[in-house]
Amino acid sequence: NYKAVIFDLDGVICHTDHYHYLAWKEVADELGIYFDESINHRLRGVSRKESFDIILERYDKIMGEEDKEIYLTKKNEGYQKLLKGMTPSDLSEETKNTLLELRKRGMKLAIGSSSKNAGLIIKQLGLEHFFDAVSDGNMITHSKPHPEVFQKAASMVNCEAENCLVVEDAKAGLEAAKAGGMDCAAVGDAVKSPLADYKLSSFRQLLEIVE
Ligand code: BG6
Ligand code: MG
Repeated sequence: NYKAVIFDLDGVICHTDHYHYLAWKEVADELGIYFDESINHRLRGVSRKESFDIILERYDKIMGEEDKEIYLTKKNEGYQKLLKGMTPSDLSEETKNTLLELRKRGMKLAIGSSSKNAGLIIKQLGLEHFFDAVSDGNMITHSKPHPEVFQKAASMVNCEAENCLVVEDAKAGLEAAKAGGMDCAAVGDAVKSPLADYKLSSFRQLLEIVE
């Protein structure tokens, strides 16, 4: 019996992965590092810093921590510029209506995102009043696949792990949900993972799981 649904944000509620790609691409190009969509795919659910370490696997030099900070800031500035161009029309009607219907059914709704930009994204999409709790990258010390961000979300809505359903598009996120003792519904490419308890081909299918 689910009492709360915890949503990953990037790749589930909104499609910011291309913005991540563009912002990282600019940094990678500046450093002369090869970067493409398939490497970008490996960054799903992974923190900003860990994402950069994955990109740096193709860098033939060693980068010091101070320089890393400079490029992390650069990436985030480019990314935020793109985020600021988002508007409520970037939220799909299906997503919006499904969230509203889940609320009507008495579900607690929470965000569990690795992103430190979650607040900004939620604001751009006009979703400030849709969620009972937002647990994000600013509040955690371990990022996915560690379950911390989902455990925080669960405790913010006063819900036991066994009564939470997590919705995820990334392998790291499915692993985090399972590590926290939560069921998970996969969207997008994550449906290929054996960790998924449910495989969604559309967002509104959530309404069949949470009755
Ligand atoms: C996750 C994304 O939601 O947030 C990752 O899937 C991203 O790709 C991570 O690296 C951190 O995001 P931000 O906004 O803090 O740089
Ligand atoms: Mg995601």
